[in-house]
Amino acid sequence: MPFDSTGKISFDHIYTAPDPRPFFGTLQRVDYQIPQLAKPYFTKLIEEYQAERGIARPTVLDVGCSYGVNSALLRCETTLDDLYEQYTAPGVESLGRTALLERDQRLVRSRATSDGARFFGLDAAGAALDYAREAGFLDETIYADFERYDPDEKQQALLDQVDLVVSTGCVGYVTEKSIARIARGSRPWMAHFVLRMFSYDPVAESLAELGYETAAIDGVYRQRRFASTEEQEHILDALGTAGVDPEGLEAEGWLYAQLYVSRPKKGAAAGLASTLNAVATEDEDTAPDERG
Ligand SMILES: C[S@@+](CC[C@H](N)C(=O)[O-])C[C@H]1O[C@@H](n2cnc3c(N)ncnc32)[C@H](O)[C@@H]1O
Repeated sequence: MPFDSTGKISFDHIYTAPDPRPFFGTLQRVDYQIPQLAKPYFTKLIEEYQAERGIARPTVLDVGCSYGVNSALLRCETTLDDLYEQYTAPGVESLGRTALLERDQRLVRSRATSDGARFFGLDAAGAALDYAREAGFLDETIYADFERYDPDEKQQALLDQVDLVVSTGCVGYVTEKSIARIARGSRPWMAHFVLRMFSYDPVAESLAELGYETAAIDGVYRQRRFASTEEQEHILDALGTAGVDPEGLEAEGWLYAQLYVSRPKKGAAAGLASTLNAVATEDEDTAPDERG
C-alpha cells in the first residue's frame, strides 16, 4: 500500500468509491474507531449549544465527512460496529448501489433517534457526499476543497447556516485554510479530533484572528491500529520530528487523537472543554486513555 506525504498509509481509493463498502471493509481491518469515541462528545456539544443558544435544531457541519459516518452515528440508534457489520456481512458485497442505498434509507427511517439537529457534510469526494445525502445520513452537502478555493455563493449560503462544526480523521487533510474559510461565515462552535502527529496550533491561531478561543480536552483517544510496522515507523519518525513523545501510546501500535474545542467568545472555551471532560466520566466506553 502506498504512503501519503505525512507518512500514513494512503486510503485515498476508499474515499472516492461510489458506495461505502470499501471504506468500512478497509477501516474495520485497522480497528478505526474514532467516530464511535467521538459520538458522546459531539452529542454533548450539540446539547450545550441548544441549551445556551436556545436553538432547538442547530445545524452541524461534519468536515471531511466522507460517507456521513458521524451524522449516521449521531442521527441513528447505531454504532460503528453495527455499520462495519452491515457493510461487510455475507451477501452485501453482491448488492447493487441502489439496493444498498434503499437498505440504508430504511436504517435511517427505523433508527433515527432524534430530530435534534440538521446535518451538513463537507468533503472533497463527491461520490461519498452523494451517497450520504441519498441515504439520508446528511441533509445538505458541500462538495468543496477549501484548502484551495474560497466558497462560492451557494457554498457560502450553506456555511452561513452552520452552528457547529465537528470532525474526525480530517484535520491533517484539512488545515487552517479550510477551517478559517468555514468559520468566517457564521462563527460556529467547533470540536475536532486531531491525530497527535498533527499540530492544532495553526488552526487555533487562525481561529484566534477571528475572535475564537481554543481549549484541549484531557486525555487521548485511540483512532486506529497501524496498518503495518512500516507505517508505525514512519509515524514514530514524524512524532519525533514534531517533539511528541510516543511512549506508551503510538509506540504500542495505535494512532492516537486529541480533542480540541474552539468557540468565539472570550473565556468560554475552557468552560466548554470542562463540560466535555465530564463526558469521559459519564461514559466509560469512550473515556480517553490517561495520557494527553
Ligand atoms: C480519514 S477520512 C475521515 C472520514 C470520516 N470523518 C470518519 O472519521 O470516518 C478523511 C476524509 O477527508 C476528506 N478530505 C481530504 N481532503 C479534503 C479537503 N481538502 N477538503 C475536504 N475534505 C477532504 C477525504 O475525502 C475523506 O473523506
